[in-house]
Amino acid sequence: MCDFHISRRGFLKSAGAAAAISTLPVSMVELAFAEPEKNFTFAYISDSHIQEIEGAKFVRNWDRGLIRAVAETNLLNPKPDFVVFGGDLAQLGKKSELDHGAEMLAKLNYDVHCVMGEHDYYLDLGKYWSELYGPHYYSWDHKGVHFITLNSVLTYDEWTHERWPTEMQRMIEMAGLDNPNGSPFMVGDKQREWLAKDLSKVKTDTPIVLFSHSPIQKIYKGWNFWTEDAEQIQELLQPFDNATVIYGHVHQIQYNQIGNISFHAVMATAWPWPYPETYAQAEQHMPKLTVPMNRADPFFERDATGWQLIDLNSGRVAMRYNLYNNTNRTVKYNPATNQPEDEAYQQPESRVAPQIHY
Ligand SMILES: [Fe+2]
Ligand SMILES: [Fe+2]
Repeated sequence: MCDFHISRRGFLKSAGAAAAISTLPVSMVELAFAEPEKNFTFAYISDSHIQEIEGAKFVRNWDRGLIRAVAETNLLNPKPDFVVFGGDLAQLGKKSELDHGAEMLAKLNYDVHCVMGEHDYYLDLGKYWSELYGPHYYSWDHKGVHFITLNSVLTYDEWTHERWPTEMQRMIEMAGLDNPNGSPFMVGDKQREWLAKDLSKVKTDTPIVLFSHSPIQKIYKGWNFWTEDAEQIQELLQPFDNATVIYGHVHQIQYNQIGNISFHAVMATAWPWPYPETYAQAEQHMPKLTVPMNRADPFFERDATGWQLIDLNSGRVAMRYNLYNNTNRTVKYNPATNQPEDEAYQQPESRVAPQIHY
């Protein structure tokens, strides 16, 4: 079911137009709904990695990142319709970490939709997380947009169930960024079947926004900036005029376009990861990104961490990055080029290479 937000300005404009053609209040209401006032916003906070050091003591920086994101989100004006938390609430999936993070998230004055991260999942396979936040994947409709949340951090059963002597060992092996003992993330058959069924009920002109933790595109396998069955999910989204995938996990600003699908990463509140490209030595490790991107400053300690406000303009995402102690940025869909672009994009030739002195 759709309902339409009517801003005061939009309503007054409509009311004026209605008054000219009819004095019946019912006409005013009808015209107000006919106004294209469908745009709305939501906020996205991700990758807080709340980490217990010992007994009720937690890493202070990660706590502060989430506390600040929650406080700033509560002060937003206009208010977002809801908040999404993009996964990796905890560092090692412990009940104490999830509880401590949930306590901070509970201070948000909005409905919160949560996405599963691998750091939340691999200790007890999402059991305690489910007690706090419900199912691992689901969909809902809001103001004419179809929203989907997937658990994209599953992997092969053999890796999950047969390889590790303890649950904590399994968690630690998956928690490392570049650990060769890890395993590629995937959505898996069961969820893909559910997704196909879910999407079969949606008209192809309905905007789709899909939330996942790992990117539903293959960027860098060595660090699991990767979803093994990405192409199969992309195929399910391609029939739609307008589909967007929003993901966390990579702790950095990324955007891309594959066919009809726009991809946007959200940043972390904990720490920034460097860009895989800078570490790649082998060709097959280079990110396959179709849109040239501005990058955050890797020497700026808190750059590429923060939170985002997302404008949905007739279903097209405009991502407003709120950077700690730095200029905010906006990445918007450009209909002329059919791809998301940084509003202050620097042409490669105008970039000045940093001067390094030894
Ligand atoms: Fe993370
Ligand atoms: Fe992650």
